[in-house]
Amino acid sequence: MSTLLTRLDELRDKAFGELKNLTSATDLEAFRVKYLGRKGAITGVLRELGSIEPEQRANVGAEANKLKNELTSAFEKHQESLKSKSIPDSKVDLTLPGRSRFLGKKHPISRTIDDIIDIFYSLGFSVAEGPDVETEWYNFDALNTPDDHPARDLADTFYIKDNILLRTHTSPVQIRTMENNKPPVRIIAPGRCYRKDTPDASHAPNFFQTEGLYVDKDVTFSDLKGVINIFARRLFGPEIKVRFRPHFFPFTEPSAEYDFSCLICKGDGCRACKHTGWVEISGAGMVDPAVFEAVGYDPEKYTGYAFGMGVDRITMLRYGIADIRYLYDNDLRVLRGI
Ligand code: DAH
Repeated sequence: MSTLLTRLDELRDKAFGELKNLTSATDLEAFRVKYLGRKGAITGVLRELGSIEPEQRANVGAEANKLKNELTSAFEKHQESLKSKSIPDSKVDLTLPGRSRFLGKKHPISRTIDDIIDIFYSLGFSVAEGPDVETEWYNFDALNTPDDHPARDLADTFYIKDNILLRTHTSPVQIRTMENNKPPVRIIAPGRCYRKDTPDASHAPNFFQTEGLYVDKDVTFSDLKGVINIFARRLFGPEIKVRFRPHFFPFTEPSAEYDFSCLICKGDGCRACKHTGWVEISGAGMVDPAVFEAVGYDPEKYTGYAFGMGVDRITMLRYGIADIRYLYDNDLRVLRGI
């Protein structure tokens, strides 16, 4: 018997044997290429017809074509049966709507800072920055904060080494700005601050402030009140009330703190405002002449106001968050809901 016929017999056994076990589209395609393709095994036999006795060619050719036809129709049948099986068998319901992806968004603190910047920018302020790691000079001395001030205590401040510390407020940016610019200056400086506070509902060892500074001739306390009132209304709407209370800061004279009316209880008193109807937002005041002297400004010629607002407090008020730790825990259930 012709060796080609033997090969066709072997091919038939092998191919039909393999076909039954194919389950995936990739396997099916590999099978088709291997046996039925233009360079496949059956075409290979047909190509060799020229090398055998002429009287055997017709017979071997017919056998090869027969095998090709049979295998093709068996292949197609198997392919069909896999297709019809795969849908009911599959756990995927192709008619279901797709799963929507969770799109990230800015952290509430970043959103508050962006909005604060927008408002002050529209009032003529520009944004200044300073380093998180500061020297005692910028963080304390230049701000008229003497050696024996409690804020300088090891228990209150993260020291890196002598004289170098994590800034406890954004006020050092006032000094850096005035050192490098002649008046008038009108800046805000948002950024991170660090204090050795034990975390609780209203304290976190790192938090955010936005410093503000306006120095020019004839700047007065009423300019400060006017700007803060405009800021509060732009951020929270026309119902917000602002109150100033006397206070003390070494770098301002006179000094004050200002509060916003609590928007969570509308002033009636709730946990968030410790039942006072007011939420403390910021320290503020008129820049102390000693600070002007430290940076080489003439206190006889210039006056200025400054403030340092708690960004976290404002964020909590805006989004009705009762505990500052929610802002730092990275709990997506909280952050997604805001
Ligand atoms: N730096 C102060 C603090 O962290 C806040 C402050 C008070 C900033 C008065 C000021 C200011 O610019 O004038 O408590």
